[in-house]
Amino acid sequence: IEGQILNQLALSPDSSFNTYEFATSLPSDYGVTHENVIGMSKSLAGDGYVTMSSSKVDYWELTDEGKRVQREGSQEAKCFKAIKASPEGLTKKELEDKVGKDAAKVGMGNCMKNKWITKSGEKLSASLQDITDLVQVQLSKLAAFPNPEDNGTCLPGKEVTLLKKRKLIAGKSRTSYNVTRGPEYAEERVKKAADLTKEMIDAGTWETTKFKAYNFKTVGEKVNGGYLHPLLKVRAEFRKILCQMGFEEMPTNKWVESSFWNFDTLFQPQSHPARDAHDTFFIKDPAQTISVPKDYYERVVKMHEEGGSGSIGYRYNFKAGDARKNLLRTHTTAVSSQMLYKLANQEGGFQPKKYFSIDRVFRNESMDATHLCEFHQVEGLVADYNLSLGDLIGTIETFFKKIGITQLRFKPAFNPYTEPSMEIFGYHPDLKKWTEIGNSGMFRPEMLAPMGLPNNVRVIAWGLSLERPTMIKYRIKNIRDLFGHKVEIGRTKTAPVCRFD
Ligand code: PHE
Repeated sequence: IEGQILNQLALSPDSSFNTYEFATSLPSDYGVTHENVIGMSKSLAGDGYVTMSSSKVDYWELTDEGKRVQREGSQEAKCFKAIKASPEGLTKKELEDKVGKDAAKVGMGNCMKNKWITKSGEKLSASLQDITDLVQVQLSKLAAFPNPEDNGTCLPGKEVTLLKKRKLIAGKSRTSYNVTRGPEYAEERVKKAADLTKEMIDAGTWETTKFKAYNFKTVGEKVNGGYLHPLLKVRAEFRKILCQMGFEEMPTNKWVESSFWNFDTLFQPQSHPARDAHDTFFIKDPAQTISVPKDYYERVVKMHEEGGSGSIGYRYNFKAGDARKNLLRTHTTAVSSQMLYKLANQEGGFQPKKYFSIDRVFRNESMDATHLCEFHQVEGLVADYNLSLGDLIGTIETFFKKIGITQLRFKPAFNPYTEPSMEIFGYHPDLKKWTEIGNSGMFRPEMLAPMGLPNNVRVIAWGLSLERPTMIKYRIKNIRDLFGHKVEIGRTKTAPVCRFD
């Protein structure tokens, strides 16, 4: 089209051409539409090859009904013909049977108005020999115009008004452009360079090359940045709060653990139902851990089998094979036990510490609106001399207060590795009820003693899910809308920052 347009202006140097006329003059098998011609003209105008001025024309287009009338004649003409063909005249009913109900309805009235027929008694009879179907003539006149843009004024206003009223024609308008030679007009377009290249500089062609002008008005491409998932936003906020409280983050980036660290070091008996494949994902390859600290392992075995530190133990035969089974960690307490073991055995001996972690854990659960096979745990622990249950309650209260949960209740519970243990309940102001929000306790001597921690060191700890507070904060009802392949990306993009005031 580009060449055709420039050529058109070369052929008629001082006259312009109209884009619509030009487009309709092209053979239809070119497949070039009026829009294509406008588009290319605008592109050429951008480089100064042509100038354009728009013009709007109103014209009439025959409706489907209008096209039918133009082909077959108007309703009144049909009625007249039918009546004329019956010398004895027709009743209204007979006319309806001949031309159809719709045509009779419109046509009969118009026949009377035109004085084409008369009515005596029930009978309608023709009062003329012949008629001219003016409506059909007018429509043909409009349709016959080779260029419909010109038909706007070809009929007197009165006739047009009637045709419009009968919904035989509809008003349309079309914008086209008059194209003339522009200041940069040439018979062939030379593509202007967009960029200055090394080659142009090397060869010196940059001096003669034509460059595109800068377009300072263009809108830049939209930048699509990354977005933090709501869980990560809440995690960042929790992290900040825990750091402010003096906690250090534990390294939890290893998801595969041995049963030894996940269960045995926590004094969880080997027959415990949680250690069943129905609850835990065991790893097939490698199925077994390579090593565990030997001395410590012996002390853990002894604690399970015989007890110690005032405990009678579980009094069963500890199975080394069970301890070595690899699994996807079921809780981040598997990392807490490793950190406490390190703390007991570090150079210079034990030092009081506060640790936290927020990371993924895995459980073989049946999935529903509130459960997935994986979730994130927020875990905190404090190891210090002579801590009490009061310290645990105080620490938990401080943490939850910082995330906006001020009303807490504690309920006695059981964990294999803590004694006493407490479930944490928080009052949910939206739901107006108490809901379980975490689990906590003081680690048992059976867990701490084999690690080699001093006798009077107590460890208080608690754990909760990251998902629960995130769903409350972002008002998400179904966990699948928060995590997994069904999450709407748009929701992640627009989720506001997380702040706890
Ligand atoms: N590990 C526990 C759980 O998975 C949470 C917990 C951590 C409980 C620390 C007590 C102490 O639910």
